[in-house]
Amino acid sequence: MADTPRVIGVLTAGGDCPGLNAVIRAVTTRASSVNDAEVVGILNGWEGLMEGDTMPLDRDAVRGILTRGGTILGTSRMDPYVHGEGYKSVENTIRRNGIEALIVIGGDGTLRSALALAKEGLPVVGVPKTIDNDINGTDITFGFDTAVQIATDAIDRLASTAEAHNRVIVVEVMGRTKGWIAAYAGIAGGADSILIPERPYDLDEVAGIIRARHRHGKSYSIVVVAEGVEPPAGVEVELKKDAFGFARLGGVGYAIADHIETLTGFETRVSVLGHIQRGGSPTAFDRVLATRLGVAAADYALEGRTGVMAAVRSMEILPIPMEEACAEIRGVTPDIYDTAATFFS
Ligand code: F6P
Repeated sequence: MADTPRVIGVLTAGGDCPGLNAVIRAVTTRASSVNDAEVVGILNGWEGLMEGDTMPLDRDAVRGILTRGGTILGTSRMDPYVHGEGYKSVENTIRRNGIEALIVIGGDGTLRSALALAKEGLPVVGVPKTIDNDINGTDITFGFDTAVQIATDAIDRLASTAEAHNRVIVVEVMGRTKGWIAAYAGIAGGADSILIPERPYDLDEVAGIIRARHRHGKSYSIVVVAEGVEPPAGVEVELKKDAFGFARLGGVGYAIADHIETLTGFETRVSVLGHIQRGGSPTAFDRVLATRLGVAAADYALEGRTGVMAAVRSMEILPIPMEEACAEIRGVTPDIYDTAATFFS
């Protein structure tokens, strides 16, 4: 453990996620107005730490942001270990602002870099963030509940128009390497099939389910697809890259829909939900979770802990080693998929 820090930096990195502002508000309020520490907001994720872009944060600066989507600090996918030279690329900003501990709110890539910085000697505390819900060591990440609610609302609406027109609708949701949003929104929306990256799929089987539904009197079907699934065999989906070299996913649902239409003969449409799942106000559940994680992270930093992440275990918040969070990307558990698959008929 390090000494009690008087100046704490906070940054949000990677894709944004409903609840980020709730964490920033909680970290700032707990550290500054309760414990009298200074809080430095770092702008645009790691980029701000590399370039020296910061803003002061205090209780007044974070009033009114609890319910707002996005992040008042901005975010980016720049990374000091991918695009820079690790600690060397951030040490100027750390020194100039007198930052003695850093709270990093991010997904698996961000947390890996946070751990690397902790190993280089900077006291770092992590807060797991992603709508994808795929961070190891925590039961859930904030933002996931909001994304599932948005996707479920969309499925409900798509089901009614699918039924009116006797169509199959493929709903593509986010989920880069893991299919948590697809699985949960699929269960909540009563999907007839769910395709996730963790499990190989067979479109003949999906077509069989759809044909059977039609024989049994339901002439519409909803197929939920996570954006990160492999395209059907023989199909190439060309992916553009973002400014930091990461693949921009989205669109695999079109190739899957074409195959389903060919195999079943039923008109098949596609709806790609995309960034709507990440935008806007967090649900009450996510506001509470993000607030609890932010308060805990501030406490860990003020206690001089480093290399730990605030995690949720059986609804309790506790510090776990960041190594555990970075050990693997957490996939949908077999019991969840099995529950969903019970209704594929
Ligand atoms: O990691 C969260 C996430 O929303 C993924 O589900 C998605 O693939 C990715 O971010 C999209 O990121 P971007 O907006 O940078 O393209």
